[in-house]
Amino acid sequence: MQVHQIIDIRMMNMKTFLAISSFVLFLSSCYYDKEELLYGIEKCDTMNVKYSVQIVNILTANCLSCHGGDASAGAGIRLGTYDEVKAQAVSGTLLNVVAHTPGFTQMPRGAAKLPNCRIEEIRAWISNGTPNN
Ligand code: HEC
Repeated sequence: MQVHQIIDIRMMNMKTFLAISSFVLFLSSCYYDKEELLYGIEKCDTMNVKYSVQIVNILTANCLSCHGGDASAGAGIRLGTYDEVKAQAVSGTLLNVVAHTPGFTQMPRGAAKLPNCRIEEIRAWISNGTPNN
């Protein structure tokens, strides 16, 4: 075999390799898009959960109508400040009521269960030690 023929074959292999790699990348990107479309899978980032961002947003949107202010609609249980939320979180009650753990009252009262990602964010914040961040 001549030297230039060997080089030709190597070049072809490299091109084939690149072609296959791009094809695989292309396929995986399509697959991902499709999966999101088909199942509405929400990308759930539990690595960067902050009290002042995700936790306060969840409580404001779903809980403070009853558990803020004088909390008269929430049986006096208040979730308006960090200390109040922390107390419910450390006891385990906060996660159990939103996760609808059997034996616990189910929150938010009179509304649908929170989306899984919201529950996972609360779970992550608690397992990180309920930081006031
Ligand atoms: C419509 C009003 C209302 C909303 C909205 C609501 N709650 Fe409640 N919550 C109540 C009432 C009333 C009680 C006390 C009676 C009961 O246990 O059902 C309660 C009780 C609780 C308790 C104490 C449970 C126990 O066993 O000690 C926690 C913790 C709680 N809620 C958290 C939440 C969280 C978190 C949300 C939002 C995801 C929420 N609640 C939304 C009305 C509400």
